Amino acid sequence: MSNPTLTAEQLATELTALAQEALAHIQAAPDLTQLEQARQHFTGKKSRLVELSKGLGQLDADMRKTQGAVLHQYREQLNAALQQRQSDLKQAALTAQLAAEAIDVTLPSRGQQAGSLHPVTQTLERISGFFTRAGFTVEQGPEVEDDYHNFSALNIPESHPARAMHDTFYFDAHHLLRTHTSSVQIRTLEQKSVPLRIICPGRVYRCDSDQTHSPMFHQVEGLVVAERTSFAELKGLIIQFLNVFFEKELTVRFRPSYFPFTEPSAEVDIMDERGRWLEVLGCGMVHPNVLTQCGIDATQYTGFAFGLGVERFAMLRYGVTDLRQFFQNDIRFLRQFSPL
Ligand code: PHE
Repeated sequence: MSNPTLTAEQLATELTALAQEALAHIQAAPDLTQLEQARQHFTGKKSRLVELSKGLGQLDADMRKTQGAVLHQYREQLNAALQQRQSDLKQAALTAQLAAEAIDVTLPSRGQQAGSLHPVTQTLERISGFFTRAGFTVEQGPEVEDDYHNFSALNIPESHPARAMHDTFYFDAHHLLRTHTSSVQIRTLEQKSVPLRIICPGRVYRCDSDQTHSPMFHQVEGLVVAERTSFAELKGLIIQFLNVFFEKELTVRFRPSYFPFTEPSAEVDIMDERGRWLEVLGCGMVHPNVLTQCGIDATQYTGFAFGLGVERFAMLRYGVTDLRQFFQNDIRFLRQFSPL
């Protein structure tokens, strides 16, 4: 309700009080939404200001002029305060945003970290390095094999118990993930002429997983076929390899064993610092049946073969006690094998 009976003095008093209240609200508005609420409250349609302005019409000319001037000044004062507060709030928001998004270009950079070869790869290269220097060439074969190359041709016929021992992953009755790199012996003998000296590094698969077994691991197969090979030559080569690989004179033992594709067969153990025997590889003289199967005259040629697990060599060399660590890709683990 307008109040046309107010004197100029009364009006001025009321407006002074109102201005104080309004300015306090405006200056204290913490954000633009609350500032807009204050604007509506003090200058909007339902505000005292508008109410008083409407009442001006009922005043006589003199009063209207003086009161109008007072109201005008009051309005100006509010508008100025509103505008000031608005630009302050916007500025503050911008400053806060800039601070939040600031990039400190003076911070030192993270630098660059060179990657390094995986410890299994380093071990594989160490093993291959020895044998290539000894005149061996490197052969590869498929990881998806047929039962002929993985078993039958290696003197492991269908009903042979060794098939069950291999924990094979089968695709169907005749296709599987190779359980050893010995299959590459067969593929190479089928394709190349003898004599030959080869190593076959690669992945092999067995349905087995614990601290010392993983369903995928790496083997290096070795095969020598020539007119004159002997167990003595095999023995000398293996002992020399082990001493070079582990960089010390090891105590090595050849323990009679059995593999269908070698005869005689042996497993090789090395002695650790505490006097315990550790098995490191399998080997033997190639069984004549294997040579014959590949079309090689077993009365003229003999051969020897060996097979080793790369992870096992890596574990022994680096003192790793859980084989699964090689496949977890934990950078803290891998970084330890960086050559700097
Ligand atoms: N293939 C055998 C294995 O996986 C290792 C081996 C290879 C043994 C060659 C003798 C000769 O256990």
